Amino acid sequence: DQIGLYDRFDRQLTYLRISVTDRCNMRCDYCRPAADAYKAEPHGQILRYEEIEHITRLAAELGVSKVRITGGEPLVRRDLLKLIEKLAAIPGITDLSITTNATLLAKYADDLAMAGLNRINISLDSLNALRFRKLTGAELAPVLKGIEAAKKAGLTPIKLNTVLMRGINAGENYSEVAELIDFAICCDATIRFIELMPMKQGLDWDKHYISIDEVLAEDDVRQRIDLEAVAESQNTAASYLPLKNSPQKVGFITPMSERFCDDCNRLRLTADGHLRSCLPAESELNLRDLIRSGGSDDDVRNLFRRSAMIKPKIGTYGFNKDSEQRSMIHIGG
Ligand code: GTP
Ligand code: 5AD
Ligand code: SF4
Repeated sequence: DQIGLYDRFDRQLTYLRISVTDRCNMRCDYCRPAADAYKAEPHGQILRYEEIEHITRLAAELGVSKVRITGGEPLVRRDLLKLIEKLAAIPGITDLSITTNATLLAKYADDLAMAGLNRINISLDSLNALRFRKLTGAELAPVLKGIEAAKKAGLTPIKLNTVLMRGINAGENYSEVAELIDFAICCDATIRFIELMPMKQGLDWDKHYISIDEVLAEDDVRQRIDLEAVAESQNTAASYLPLKNSPQKVGFITPMSERFCDDCNRLRLTADGHLRSCLPAESELNLRDLIRSGGSDDDVRNLFRRSAMIKPKIGTYGFNKDSEQRSMIHIGG
């Protein structure tokens, strides 16, 4: 059947986030277990491109129109361009994008655009090279070159994602928010500030969480944003406000202070082939084993429907310390 995918709360799921790898060339403190404790999954557990393409085709028949490739870092997976080409050709997929740390983007931007990628979102948590290195274990310069290359290649509109972390890039004496807004204006990108989520593995949330409201109270931030305007949001996690001195907007993703689950349209496919209907939820369904044990297209469609059926009304974060919750590097954000 070709009817759309709906959950129990009448939300239609039209947006599939596909993680293509749990490997990454950065070591962001908020994203993964302590660097040395992390072991990437064996290649055999990771979905092959043909499997991803097949699953996406079936998802498109079920009404999915928006696909985002995530990781780990998607560009470290070999031949990603081939996958992009395949996915871009699937009827019904009208918005194909990628979320990347941009370290390899200078090399791949043109080819990604040629392969049919529509646009790109880039993680950027600091403009200070030292801080950037401390937080990510990587160099800032290639990232800045990557942003430039994406712009030249027409992978627009570009969005920049900044996770707010008190004592790292936000809060008294550390705030880079105003500077990041100015940078985004300069490179014609939309910047979005994201509240830190308390994942089981990652940065100490109690210590580093800061709300958007606190950030908006800073003088040099208030000077830049039109706080009187009505916030805009279009069935996405982010809401946007206009800037005072630029036609660009600034975005806020507030998983902690203001939940956006009511109009959530997302499903996630992990690199090892599990369907996950909510970012922080624990339940996943194993699509990989279903396919590899000879499951039919109907079985796959049914698993999509079951996944939609167990999507919670509101995501709750893993405060249960014994839970098996996966780290972001597995889920793909
Ligand atoms: P657009 O389609 O451009 O709006 O992108 P997006 O916001 O859907 O995707 P992106 O990968 O840029 O998301 C940035 C970050 O927002 C993610 O890494 C997550 O941290 C957070 N985020 C995105 N979607 C969700 C969601 O459904 N739930 C929660 N809790 N956080 C989300
Ligand atoms: N809280 C909020 N966002 C996170 N991301 C990863 N970990 C977290 C977290 N704990 C998001 C960031 C990052 C992307 C890969 O995932 O946007 O850039
Ligand atoms: Fe959707 Fe879950 Fe995120 Fe809420 S927490 S927006 S339900 S994925």
